[in-house]
Amino acid sequence: MNYARVIGTGSYLPQKILTNTELVEMVDTTEEWIESRTGIRERRIAASDERTSDLAEHASRRALDIAGITPQELDLIVVATTTPDHVFPSVACLLQDRLGIHNGGPAFDVQAVCAGFVYAIDVANRFFRTGASQKALVVGAETFSRIINWTDRNTCILFGDGAGAVVLEAAPEPGIISTHLHADGKYHELLNVPAGVSANYEQVLKGEAYTQMQGSEVFKWAVKALGDIVDETLAANNLGKSDIDWLIPHQANIRIINATAKKLSMAMDQVIVTVDRHGNTSAASIPLAFDEAVRDGRIQRGQTVIMEGFGGGFTWGSILLKY
Ligand code: ACO
Repeated sequence: MNYARVIGTGSYLPQKILTNTELVEMVDTTEEWIESRTGIRERRIAASDERTSDLAEHASRRALDIAGITPQELDLIVVATTTPDHVFPSVACLLQDRLGIHNGGPAFDVQAVCAGFVYAIDVANRFFRTGASQKALVVGAETFSRIINWTDRNTCILFGDGAGAVVLEAAPEPGIISTHLHADGKYHELLNVPAGVSANYEQVLKGEAYTQMQGSEVFKWAVKALGDIVDETLAANNLGKSDIDWLIPHQANIRIINATAKKLSMAMDQVIVTVDRHGNTSAASIPLAFDEAVRDGRIQRGQTVIMEGFGGGFTWGSILLKY
């Protein structure tokens, strides 16, 4: 049986920076409130003509460069996104075309909001385990700013845009050691965009399909679910906390990240944090953080990394990998 291992990472952030100072001019908030409650200082916002597929393409080309392979060698593309360019075709198909791959392998999107990248890696990994893929591109890409009500201080301070990508290759040894996914749809009303094609379409037409969140309820759930998933991942692999070199958490709130690091007895210098500069980029947050830490040399070959995400649905999960 094949395993999957990471041979390249890439990421992309739109140019425009939106700072807390600017947000104070837009909604009833303070810089102190945003930074102390969330850890966020600034986030990136896609230009009006920039689409999720644009962000995904930049990140993917950078990951392919590092991997040293051509797009034509890819036999699978999975994109995690909640903010696709179109209802259909998928961002993965648009990306495949942009990369010049024709008559290629499967390309499809996965939608699990902020747990999307973890879900996408799980799916891709199964292609490797069954021998169906030899080289795959997995991307998390979002233009989340498009589904934000910029007059709602409960949500608009939190989110940003960006994309991250990894190239996976078949290998005789892991690579991806294990993946663990969960969902509980009972909580769909705590975090959602309650409009789309088949429900409340008029909100979409009016440009009012916005993210709604009962923040403190989501917060409590996220802390518990992410703590539990760490325990589940370690137990499934007979590992102790000291076996983990790096934690790459979903970047929603520094207080949630601190709580998960504490659960793992990890010092914060073993935790990759980008939330201060990126905000919550949903499915893009984990691969963005991964790429940053690989490129600046913190994460080294042979080290053990745990990634964990939590998002609307609720959905949550983890990836354990040897880089
Ligand atoms: N500025 C000032 N005051 C604010 C702001 C703001 N931007 N936003 C809310 N407040 C107020 C509230 O109105 C409330 O006031 P009240 O007490 O008078 O009612 C008070 O601050 C406290 O509000 P809480 O919501 O209880 O604040 P909390 O400390 O929980 O922080 C936050 C809110 C940052 C949203 C936090 O709950 C959080 O991070 N939640 C989890 C988000 C998350 O993990 N998402 C993951 C997935 S996201 C996805 O899948 C799309």
